[in-house]
Amino acid sequence: MARGLFILFEGCDRSGKTTQSTRLVQALTESGVNAKLVKFPDRTTAIGKMIDAYLTQKTQLSDEAIHLLFSANRWEAMHQMRTDLDNGITLVVDRYAFSGVAFSAAKKLSFKWCKAPDVGLIAPDRVFFLDIHPDDAAKRDGYGDEIYEKREFQIEVRVKFFTMMDAAWSIVDALKSPDEIHRQIMALTNTALKRHEDAPAPIGKLWT
Ligand code: TMP
Repeated sequence: MARGLFILFEGCDRSGKTTQSTRLVQALTESGVNAKLVKFPDRTTAIGKMIDAYLTQKTQLSDEAIHLLFSANRWEAMHQMRTDLDNGITLVVDRYAFSGVAFSAAKKLSFKWCKAPDVGLIAPDRVFFLDIHPDDAAKRDGYGDEIYEKREFQIEVRVKFFTMMDAAWSIVDALKSPDEIHRQIMALTNTALKRHEDAPAPIGKLWT
């Protein structure tokens, strides 16, 4: 049996990642692909609860400490993710290490330091970057509820994302209608699935 694909959604806050990743899992499942949604931060674990308290401004942590907690929250999920991929389950992941680096680097921590704890995580096969200018994101419902939802900061975060893009990434215009975005993402995903079927690649390691 071929392993599952690792499809990642990244983007600034309120870019529609959660809507689109959920829709992608539904559509894949309906078309007979074994697919599962994974979200980072996973706020259900002990580490995730500390992250949630920080994001909702109930506790304070240094920039370095929260960065390492986000990374630990991914490492604690690696065993399950690898097992799922090995069992042929396609993982649709909402945020990952690129968010980790983009948000912490936007606080002026160095790229090298930010990347280090995530080196060796399972690497995504395809990354969809839902691109929205923070001025447009700010008009969306609920914006500003959490610690990072501030215009100038999000502009910095968006710049940091752009510096990490490579051939595995596709930039998707997040201002289009949800249906249009979904269609574009389905087309890109189907191409990736077909390519993987024709020439399966082993699971990669991030930043190695
Ligand atoms: P969420 O809104 O997707 O649940 O993400 C919560 C916030 O945490 C969001 O502003 C992005 C930020 N974040 C980081 O700063 N580092 C990380 O590693 C991750 C996954 C998210």
